[in-house]
Amino acid sequence: MKVFRSRINENRPVSNRIFELTADFEGEIKPGQFFMLKTLDNSFLLPRPISVNNVNENRVTFLYRAEGAGTTRISTMRPGDEFQLFGPLGNGFDINELQGRTAIVGGGIGTAPLLYLVKLLGKKADAYLGFKDCVYKVDEFENHADKTVVVTEDGSVGEKGFVTDYIEYGKYDTVLACGPEIMMKKIVQSCRENNVKCYVSLERRMACGMGVCLGCTVVTRDGNKRACKDGPVFSGEELI
Ligand SMILES: Cc1cc2nc3c(=O)[nH]c(=O)nc-3n(C[C@H](O)[C@H](O)[C@H](O)COP(=O)(O)OP(=O)(O)OC[C@H]3O[C@@H](n4cnc5c(N)ncnc54)[C@H](O)[C@@H]3O)c2cc1C
Ligand code: FES
Repeated sequence: MKVFRSRINENRPVSNRIFELTADFEGEIKPGQFFMLKTLDNSFLLPRPISVNNVNENRVTFLYRAEGAGTTRISTMRPGDEFQLFGPLGNGFDINELQGRTAIVGGGIGTAPLLYLVKLLGKKADAYLGFKDCVYKVDEFENHADKTVVVTEDGSVGEKGFVTDYIEYGKYDTVLACGPEIMMKKIVQSCRENNVKCYVSLERRMACGMGVCLGCTVVTRDGNKRACKDGPVFSGEELI
């Protein structure tokens, strides 16, 4: 993990308020890890956590939604601009532990950390992707996963409803997921009911990103843990 400056290769919109940023990075990255991103003009003070969406040779890609001041400012950076990165951070998904069939489940921008994961797992994984209405980067999941199920709340693309209603839990040994907290709760509960192992990536507001401020606490059966340092990936068994 290091703090360094990188140069933007590309920072382009891929959907409504969703951007894809590619920058130079050399080093090992586990799927599910994240970086803290900051522009150099101090227009916002605390760096913002963004997950690794993909890794290609010496380039790392981030997929992010322009949500508030920080990410909107990041979306205005242009190719050639320098910015600050701190990472890779967090535990990520442990793919060496996986056995049998795996379901990868993402909701909205929570699909971002799952693409690199699916790419590494290849045909051993099925992808279930849920969106409100606009879908993005689905074709890249289709390229890597064995099967890709797309669900939109309004039914405009793929199946209609909530992605959690389409997962055939009995077919899988493990479910790996990232998305809104309510969706993560539902997945953990369904995995418990179906006796399936699960690991979910939790998004907490983060200030330091390195385990110091305790602003990202997650309550577990083993006591309080820090999403930035002990997570963001937690097993369904340890979550309360
Ligand atoms: C480990 C981790 C990985 C993440 N990966 C991604 C990613 O790959 N792509 C992406 O688009 N976003 C990701 N996020 C969320 C992203 O960090 C926040 O959207 C961003 O920090 C908001 O900053 P802002 O200045 O744009 O908005 P702010 O002005 O700070 O906030 C705008 C709105 O976003 C909400 N918000 C702020 N932080 C979070 C958060 N952590 N989770 C949920 N809502 C938040 C606020 O409550 C507020 O409603 C990740 C968060 C974490 C903790
Ligand atoms: S963000 Fe500071 S301890 Fe996690």
